[in-house]
Amino acid sequence: MKTLTFKNGDKMPIIGLGTWKSKPGEVYQAVLWAIEAGYRHIDCAAIYDNEKEVGNALEKAIKENLVKREELFITSKLWNSCHRLEDVQPALKKTLKDLKLDYLDLYLIHWPVSFKPGVGFAQTREEFYTYSDIPLSQTWEGMEHCLDAGLTRHIGVSNFNISKLTEIMNSASLAPEMNQVELHPFLPQNKLVNFCKDNGILLTAYSPLGSGDRSASIKKPDEPSLLENQVVKGIADKKGLTPAQVLIAYSIARDIAVIPKSVNRERIAQNLAAANVELTGDEMQALANIGISYRYVDGSFFTGAISPYRLSDLWEKE
Ligand code: A2P
Repeated sequence: MKTLTFKNGDKMPIIGLGTWKSKPGEVYQAVLWAIEAGYRHIDCAAIYDNEKEVGNALEKAIKENLVKREELFITSKLWNSCHRLEDVQPALKKTLKDLKLDYLDLYLIHWPVSFKPGVGFAQTREEFYTYSDIPLSQTWEGMEHCLDAGLTRHIGVSNFNISKLTEIMNSASLAPEMNQVELHPFLPQNKLVNFCKDNGILLTAYSPLGSGDRSASIKKPDEPSLLENQVVKGIADKKGLTPAQVLIAYSIARDIAVIPKSVNRERIAQNLAAANVELTGDEMQALANIGISYRYVDGSFFTGAISPYRLSDLWEKE
């Protein structure tokens, strides 16, 4: 499988298993099926509330010699409530305990949004004091300490735009090595992608299939469907593929890691098989001309009345 290469030569398999929205009761089996199918990259996060189950599966796979720890690439993410310098390492240690690992391959700041300690999701009422004012440079310093302590091999960010990446790059000796953001044919983010590539920052695409299983509370009515899009389906039909495989191959063609989530054994295998799919220049052009622009995870849950954050702070115009 194609890999992305970090500056020190470490490699990350370009397809990983996504675990956002995978229920605790399903994710254990999904991770084992994925490892059996040949996945070596698993994308996790503390806020997904399923890291213990992912850890049980990793422990079993390693104990039973399905895979060696050093063959796996495991990512996790720091939640918004642990942005203070002194909270970063304990948060990573908790994740390591849950995942039953002694190091991560990649640790990311999940959002450039800072909550008070203990807050899970944004509360809309002022008395909950959801937000705090921790500069990103402080959180990044905590991430660098994690690296120095050997708790993770690489550090990066998620949901960062160009100005927030620049803020960190100006304050720190080490730039983020990865930016994990929403990327697919409805949201190619060419400007951000080019900025990252020009600055040696690798990219991972989340919600590559349109995350149709998001909870109703964060879905808008009448969302356009990536998996049912006519351009995507047309390419799939012509090549004897599924729409999901075309969407995964689109990311691979852009040298962007991609983390489709599935808890279904057949779809887990099907998504990995997209590693062998090559899209032609004409097919990539047809996807570039798809004519729909849509962001599924727009971050509006962080921009309520009492929030200091605005959508325009989170995302730049294309
Ligand atoms: P399931 O877990 O039942 O397979 P995203 O990765 O963009 O967040 O999308 C995840 C959603 O896409 C889930 O609802 C998942 O369902 C579904 N999905 C995953 N793989 C495929 C596939 N190959 N074909 C169709 N739907 C898929």
